Amino acid sequence: MDRKESPTGRGQSLGAFLAEHASLGAVSFHMPGHKGADFFVRNGYGEKIKRLAEWDITEIFGADNLFQPESVIRRTMQKYERLYETRRSYLLINGSSAGIIASILASVRRGGRLIMARNCHKSVFNALSLGGIEPVYLRPQVDDRYGVAAEVRACDVAALLDSEPQAAAVILASPNYYGICSDIAAIARETHKRGKLLIVDQAHGAHLKFFANHAAALPRDPDHTKGGLRFPLPAEAQGADLVINSTHKTLASFTQTAVLNVCSDRIDCTLLEDGLQMLQSSSPSYPLMATLDFNADLLAEKGLELMEQWRNDLLWFYEKAANIRGLSLMKGRLMDPSKINLDMSACGLDGDRLERELIKRRIFPELVSGDIVMCMTGIGNTSSDYEKLLAALAELSERSKTAEIASDPRAAKAGGKTRASLCAGADYAVQLEFCGIPKERERISLEQAAGRVCAMSLIPYPPGIPLVCPGERLTEKTVSSLLALRQAGRKVIGVDEELCIWAGKA
Ligand SMILES: Cc1ncc(COP(=O)(O)O)c(C=O)c1O
Repeated sequence: MDRKESPTGRGQSLGAFLAEHASLGAVSFHMPGHKGADFFVRNGYGEKIKRLAEWDITEIFGADNLFQPESVIRRTMQKYERLYETRRSYLLINGSSAGIIASILASVRRGGRLIMARNCHKSVFNALSLGGIEPVYLRPQVDDRYGVAAEVRACDVAALLDSEPQAAAVILASPNYYGICSDIAAIARETHKRGKLLIVDQAHGAHLKFFANHAAALPRDPDHTKGGLRFPLPAEAQGADLVINSTHKTLASFTQTAVLNVCSDRIDCTLLEDGLQMLQSSSPSYPLMATLDFNADLLAEKGLELMEQWRNDLLWFYEKAANIRGLSLMKGRLMDPSKINLDMSACGLDGDRLERELIKRRIFPELVSGDIVMCMTGIGNTSSDYEKLLAALAELSERSKTAEIASDPRAAKAGGKTRASLCAGADYAVQLEFCGIPKERERISLEQAAGRVCAMSLIPYPPGIPLVCPGERLTEKTVSSLLALRQAGRKVIGVDEELCIWAGKA
């Protein structure tokens, strides 16, 4: 699939593309979590959403100020403080990215050290550059069954904390992009035992708190792998000091909104606020903040009902999907089941092919990596979305019995060979030599870049995790992985249209 252009309109403008896409009536298994205007209409917020253009104001009299909130904005923050049970909740309008950077800058002094999972989001790497902070990498395990980065183990965190006593804080993503969580309670214990701070990038898990809030009221299921559903606990309830939630990814606020939660008294909120005002626009969008307010109200008013519906839909889907021949679903001890990770390689469909087949049926997933296609469910998905996904998968499984799918030349690649694929985790497990960030740089062809030191991050997108960081030496394997990604039509930030990158001067 040519990922640069929509299948129908080549050379369209952005507006035309958005209008056309909206008219498709497509099923969204990608961000944002609200999945479109219908969600707001169904839940009594249709009129408010229509009026967002009128609400696009600035800091006029009475409108408060995001960077010194005392009235209306402060009250929305307080709604989140109640919902997440935090000491302080900050509204973010530059995504979790801004919250992550501010959290790091408030936790690690300039020139200090940060213990970080190597598969962290690029915002963590940006914080290193901005704060002159040195990383100490934690290498997550790789789950060989799926070729994706697995959990970060508390014992590995403890070992690094002991060998790097100067490190001020630990950061990791939980859930990661695929929904795999880490044991935050155990990691928090090890971190706090040594007097350090724990920051959890929960960008993909803003909803976990609400499943946990209603766990007592929802039907109890023993175990996700045995047909039931169990949601991991949110980091807020497990002892993390700072937790950053992209409410836009799975809940109902608009893209770019997020919430930064302060959960302990170990945090210097003045430093945090200073960082936030540096990193966010000085003209924060009132319509975006309004959607954070709607999201908080919806969760307070209808949280139980919405979570119950979402959970029942997932339960229904997982139960039915278990009967589809050739479909396997990623499972695990600490999985967030709201991320549906599909693998139909046994039917001759690698991830790219499966994604194309779903898109042909107007079902748009979030992420493809090797054999895995990740469908990101959200608060706004309807039962009919899950039914359509299930019907498409059942049809593909049936068709694969005939020669139709197996005869596709690309199918030869599938069947497990692309597992452990790049940008899913396996490539992040490879330790690249760090040679220092080059002072002078030149543009070179990626094909000839093995052995050269990278001057800028190379970031496959999604998932937005740098495969190579500035100062790291490229290997033959990493170069060929990057070339394969570009040849598959994927975006790699840092590799330009002519397949060139910036490297240290030879
Ligand atoms: C693990 C992780 N953390 C943080 C972010 C940044 O979140 P936002 O898009 O809200 O800035 C992302 C974005 O996809 C992500 O995948």
